[in-house]
Amino acid sequence: MITRNAFMLLLFFTITLVHGATMDRKLYIVYMGEHSHPDSESVIKANHEMLTTVTGRHFDAAQEVVIHHYTKSFRGFSAMLTQAQAQQLAESHSVVSVFESRMNKLHTTHSWDFLGVNSLYQSHQPSMVSPEANVIVGVIDTGVWPESKSFNDEGLGPLPTKFKGSCVHGQNFTLANCNRKLIGARFYFKGIEAENGPLEEAGRTFFRSARDSDGHGTHTASTIAGSVVANVSLHGMARGTARGGAPNARLAIYKACWFSLCSDADVLSAMDDAIHDGVDVISLSLGPSPPQPIYFENAISVGAFHAFRKGVLVSCSTGNSFFPGTAGNVAPWILTVAASSIDREFNSNIYLGNSKILKGLSLNTLKMDGLHGLIVGRNAAASGVPAQNASFCKKHTLDNTKINGKIVVCALEALFDDRIQKAMEVQQGGGVGMILIDPFARTMGFQFPIPSTVIGQEEARQLEAYMHTQKHPVARIVPTITSLHSKPAPKVAVFSSQGPNIITPDIIKPDITAPGLNILAAWSPVATDDFGRAVNYNIISGTSMSCPHVSAVAAILKSYYPSWSPSAIMSAIMTTATVMDNTQRWIGRDPNATQATPFDFGSGHINPIAALSPGLVYDFDSTDVIKFLCSAGASPAQLKNLTGQPTHCQKPHTHSYDFNYPSIGVSRMHGNVSVHRTVTYYGKGPATFVASVDYPAGVKVSVKPPTLKFNKTGEKTTFRVDFNPLKTSKRKFVFGALTWKNGLYKIRSPIALNVFSL
Ligand SMILES: *[C@@H]1O[C@H](CO)[C@@H](O)[C@H](O)[C@H]1NC(C)=O
Ligand SMILES: *[C@@H]1O[C@H](CO)[C@@H](O)[C@H](O)[C@H]1NC(C)=O
Ligand SMILES: *[C@@H]1O[C@H](CO)[C@@H](O)[C@H](O)[C@H]1NC(C)=O
Ligand SMILES: *[C@@H]1O[C@H](CO)[C@@H](O)[C@H](O)[C@H]1NC(C)=O
Ligand SMILES: *[C@@H]1O[C@H](CO)[C@@H](O)[C@H](O)[C@H]1NC(C)=O
Ligand SMILES: *[C@@H]1O[C@H](CO)[C@@H](O)[C@H](O)[C@H]1NC(C)=O
Ligand SMILES: *[C@@H]1O[C@H](CO)[C@@H](O)[C@H](O)[C@H]1NC(C)=O
Repeated sequence: MITRNAFMLLLFFTITLVHGATMDRKLYIVYMGEHSHPDSESVIKANHEMLTTVTGRHFDAAQEVVIHHYTKSFRGFSAMLTQAQAQQLAESHSVVSVFESRMNKLHTTHSWDFLGVNSLYQSHQPSMVSPEANVIVGVIDTGVWPESKSFNDEGLGPLPTKFKGSCVHGQNFTLANCNRKLIGARFYFKGIEAENGPLEEAGRTFFRSARDSDGHGTHTASTIAGSVVANVSLHGMARGTARGGAPNARLAIYKACWFSLCSDADVLSAMDDAIHDGVDVISLSLGPSPPQPIYFENAISVGAFHAFRKGVLVSCSTGNSFFPGTAGNVAPWILTVAASSIDREFNSNIYLGNSKILKGLSLNTLKMDGLHGLIVGRNAAASGVPAQNASFCKKHTLDNTKINGKIVVCALEALFDDRIQKAMEVQQGGGVGMILIDPFARTMGFQFPIPSTVIGQEEARQLEAYMHTQKHPVARIVPTITSLHSKPAPKVAVFSSQGPNIITPDIIKPDITAPGLNILAAWSPVATDDFGRAVNYNIISGTSMSCPHVSAVAAILKSYYPSWSPSAIMSAIMTTATVMDNTQRWIGRDPNATQATPFDFGSGHINPIAALSPGLVYDFDSTDVIKFLCSAGASPAQLKNLTGQPTHCQKPHTHSYDFNYPSIGVSRMHGNVSVHRTVTYYGKGPATFVASVDYPAGVKVSVKPPTLKFNKTGEKTTFRVDFNPLKTSKRKFVFGALTWKNGLYKIRSPIALNVFSL
């Protein structure tokens, strides 16, 4: 925590300095869509010529302000420009959009405050033998620790010939660090340095190469395609075999994040390379802070659009912002991933003096000898501090003499409180342990510097009752025991960002949920945790951790069905998801187990086996995407040159709810609405599917035709869903589902409707 704050301070000064030095110039991305140039050099030349028109001087001046050229998979550049220059470029007829480069954050809870957490890989993924060795996943993140056992390449054959990437040499990283598992490694820092100054100024350990000093990138990459490694754990917790979801797939590493921040300009450069290098799937566990920018003013959406056009699936985390409308990375050509729990708990229980046991949760390996006195924070206020402030165990609120040798009970002031800081306050005052009452985030595996555990409301009541009856209440916090097969699971994680999609609300987002709570995976040993401990495997939480699970399943699907488009893979993953937990009830959402909606988990919880045989597939291509953008109100200016040719909207527009997405949303319903979809049959022999509807409250639904008949695989058919609203939904969405069933398959699409008028 200390290092983090110091870094923020540094960053602040750095920004001030850079701004002073460059006056009013900022880092802009000038995006020009697909290009029709013969090679990268001619794009660079054209970019320079274009820049010279606004820098008004020589070629050299233009060259000086350029940060990156995007030349391979699409055309553009990033440059330090004044607002007037940016504006002038935006007016050029070959430019699609000009936008300020923003900083993306890693979507791990590790870097968040309420998530002062650290967080794994669970081995409940089905074991599947598959021809995935030809599939390459590009991971844009903080790099990789190549010596980790998870990246050994035993048993892997020669590199897929389609791969055009390379293993770029850098600090503590040579060609020898790549192997048949880690087949590519590149790194990008010009964008972040243009904005924040030299990386050295952060005063932290880092490598100017693809080597990971943070841990996050090593974690996500090993979750996707880590080799099988037996007997790993975090200090004995979650002990088991670690393996990626697609342990035979190849990894190409693109390091674009430094100290938890990733500049749009660098991320876009990484995407330009990854697409060109020939990866099949791109995994991005990062994103802009909410609100989501419009698609063509956002590097990830722009890069993903070109990836989609070239048959590369982009899977992204939706973010950890909890509140409605905060879901990020929501373009319909991106698979957007929420986070949920698995059936495993980390119990660090409390033994009370009366021999009662209270259930607590945390990642606690610290032993506490014997029983210690208990005191609640509010009874330990330092002089001059209101009791309420001390109850939250905030900085400088506790009286050392009162807490010395004791276990302090602390409460939560706000959702985003820094939990770790509270334990540090107790530790600094001589306290020996902390019990945190946190009904909100107690399932998140926090790692504290002293023996500490987190309890809910019910345990808090029992604790209080015990403390009332005793003159000298005592307790002991015991180290974590990993317990498996906990119920109910999964539950949508408390932090997972929620829909609706604020940019194109007819597209339900997120799309899917996957494990993202307390995930064990490989780690960078130089990335010591908040308490200076070095580990090779770590347990962390976030949609950053769920996204790679989905990327892995996408890689498996790609290996089974090499010709499938990204949208077919999305469809297979989404329509086979489950909405039931391991108690056969509807999946709940933490903290209060409220019934999860499509805005929490999209189509539901990922089911990798079912995704392999989806039965029916909802497909769409980039022509459909352009039509969708037209219907969503994109201006001709925004659409021009997107695809390398001037792009026009057909008149009249199709409705955006008719975009052939695997889920169904109508965000402004005025009276009856008919929604159209087309499905392709993938299966053996003739088959008949029957429609089954879960009705959204207050809306009549009929499907025409109600049965679909196919003679052979590859056949397409179109159907219509008629919605007849009987009452308005009071500006709130109502939810339902359409499921096509036959004996073998169930193809489910969630429905979200907002009925404005009848
Ligand atoms: C963009 O489209 C315009 C016509 O609308 C054309 O003149 C221009 O050359 C195109 N630019 C690129 C980079 O394709
Ligand atoms: C990086 O390289 C330097 C110089 O060769 C070496 O001293 C150092 O130990 C290396 N660091 C790591 C983490 O491998
Ligand atoms: C697993 O590793 C631990 C030490 O990390 C060791 O004590 C234990 O014997 C190992 N178990 C197996 C089955 O290899
Ligand atoms: C107590 O908390 C309040 C609200 O956070 C704050 O304004 C006040 O300064 C705090 N007082 C002390 C002495 O910490
Ligand atoms: C969960 O329930 C508690 C107690 O009923 C309530 O105070 C809290 O606001 C609820 N939290 C959410 C996020 O709904
Ligand atoms: C399937 O075969 C039947 C009978 O041969 C034919 O009538 C029908 O049109 C075929 N369906 C499709 C979708 O081709
Ligand atoms: C809406 O649909 C219902 C049946 O689905 C039909 O009876 C009704 O006439 C329709 N209303 C309008 C205004 O078309």
